[in-house]
Amino acid sequence: MAHKGKDKSQSEHPDEEPLIRRINADEIPPEVMPLGSGNYSTVYTGIFEGKSIAVKRCKNNNHFDAEYRFFQQVGRHRNIIELIAYCRTENVFILEKGQCSLMEKMKELTWKLTRRALKHIAKALIHIHAKGFVYMDLKPENAVLVLNEKRKKGKKREQEEEDGGQKMDTKLVDFGATTRKGSFANFRTKNYSDPKQRVACSTKDDVYSFGVVLLQLLKKCDENGVIDVIHEAKTNQTFVIDGDLKTSMDENVNGSSSRRQQQQNQDVKRSSSALLE
Ligand SMILES: Nc1ncnc2c1ncn2[C@@H]1O[C@H](COP(=O)(O)OP(=O)(O)O)[C@@H](O)[C@H]1O
Ligand SMILES: [Mg+2]
Repeated sequence: MAHKGKDKSQSEHPDEEPLIRRINADEIPPEVMPLGSGNYSTVYTGIFEGKSIAVKRCKNNNHFDAEYRFFQQVGRHRNIIELIAYCRTENVFILEKGQCSLMEKMKELTWKLTRRALKHIAKALIHIHAKGFVYMDLKPENAVLVLNEKRKKGKKREQEEEDGGQKMDTKLVDFGATTRKGSFANFRTKNYSDPKQRVACSTKDDVYSFGVVLLQLLKKCDENGVIDVIHEAKTNQTFVIDGDLKTSMDENVNGSSSRRQQQQNQDVKRSSSALLE
């Protein structure tokens, strides 16, 4: 029996495929503004049923099929972008819209927001791994910041102030490289993948990339700087964090935050170099 307001992707039977809405080519919203592009697709904003959304046009069937399978089998999670509808004949997805990618926003993030973004990415990966998949393409371009309109008012005022009044969640996008655990990995992202990883993919692939993203967010460097950052973390006893992030990190570690938060901050500082050992 269908319940009012029930999440459509949640089947009564856990093994059943979630219901994903199929649309015809003439229902695809026209392009309003470009949001981003990658090797396999272009993404733009549009309006779908009165709501601002993102339209992703995949350049080939394989990428579309892999991403579709992911949404079908992995299901919803609050740190995974929501699939609203799809059009197979046009290789198009209608997705929940992010404001921008983590890459674009990286330089402006304070330590608190950096930590929050990393936590959200980790939660998404845990969910993907629990469903038997490996994400295989973790990098700041594949995470977007989404305005969270539901976050409880007054609950975390301090955080809201830091967001500049905006409540942002980090969500993963781009599931074209997602592979079943133990399957042949026909794709590994340069600089973000462990050179020692073997052909079959495992959750270790994502853990390594997570380490690289963590270092990158701490250093606020672009993709070209990633190699140097990995080198520094592997060879130096101390990993140097400069600039505004260092100031906001020190304030957070030494300031008035709770003991639990202080412990978390120390843990991230330590693990940033330990992760890649
Ligand atoms: N739902 C979304 N909301 C906002 N921006 C998005 C969204 N999906 C993708 N993007 C942007 O478009 C870029 C390309 O999309 P992506 O899914 O990564 O395709 P590709 O497989 O070609 O890399 C991303 O790096 C991101 O900047
Ligand atoms: Mg991408």
